[in-house]
Amino acid sequence: MRETLPGYELLQSLRILDDAREERRAGSIRGALKEVRLPGDFAQFGVFRGRTARMILELMSPDRKLHLFDSFEGLPEDWTHNKKAGAFHLNSDEIPIFDDERVAIHKGWFKDAVPEWASQAIAPLAFIHLDADLYSSTIDVLFNIDTLIVKDTVVLFDEYAGRKQDHEHRALLDWSQKFDRSFDYLWRSSGPQVCIRIR
Ligand SMILES: C[S@@+](CC[C@H](N)C(=O)[O-])C[C@H]1O[C@@H](n2cnc3c(N)ncnc32)[C@H](O)[C@@H]1O
Repeated sequence: MRETLPGYELLQSLRILDDAREERRAGSIRGALKEVRLPGDFAQFGVFRGRTARMILELMSPDRKLHLFDSFEGLPEDWTHNKKAGAFHLNSDEIPIFDDERVAIHKGWFKDAVPEWASQAIAPLAFIHLDADLYSSTIDVLFNIDTLIVKDTVVLFDEYAGRKQDHEHRALLDWSQKFDRSFDYLWRSSGPQVCIRIR
C-alpha cells in the first residue's frame, strides 16, 4: 500500500480558509493578500498565461510593483504523470503582455534570472506567489531570494502537495532548514494552495 506523503499529511492538518473553499485559486489569492502587512513589492514565480498575475494586480495597491518570473518554456522536468517536461510551454506570440506600469517581467530560467535580479532588488518582498510546481524550480527561487524574505513576508504556494506529489512542501522545508528560517502555516484552500507567514 502507498504511504501518505508528508506534505499531503501536513496539508490535511491545516484549517481551510472559508473564502478559498469554492474558488480555490481566486479565494486563496484574496485571502493571502489580506494577510500582507509589510510595505514592499510582490513577486510571482510561474506566470504562464498570466491568469493569477492579473488577479493579484486587481487587488494590488498602486505603490507596489509585481515582479513576474517565467521562462515561458514550460516545466524543465517531469512533474506528475500528466504534467511532463515542457508542460505550460508558450510560443512567443502567446506570452502574456501586461499593460500596467506596476509590472516587471523577468523572462528566463529561475536559476539565471532570479539571482541577477535579487542581487539589486530592494527588500523586503511583502508577498510571494510560488507557482512553479517543481521541487527544483521552487528551490531555485527560495535559495536565491532568502535575503528578500523577512519577518511577515507572506508566501502563497499554489500546489503545496497532493496525494502523489509534495514538491513545494519539500522545497519549503529544505529552504527553512538550510537558511535556519521559520514560519507559521496560516491556512489552506480546499485544494492544494497553502499560505504561510515568515517568523
Ligand atoms: C503552473 S504554471 C503557472 C500558472 C500561472 N501562475 C497561472 O496563473 O496560470 C508553471 C509555470 O512555471 C514556469 N516554470 C517552472 N519552472 C521554471 C523554472 N525553473 N524557471 C522558469 N520558469 C519556470 C513554467 O514555464 C510555467 O509557466
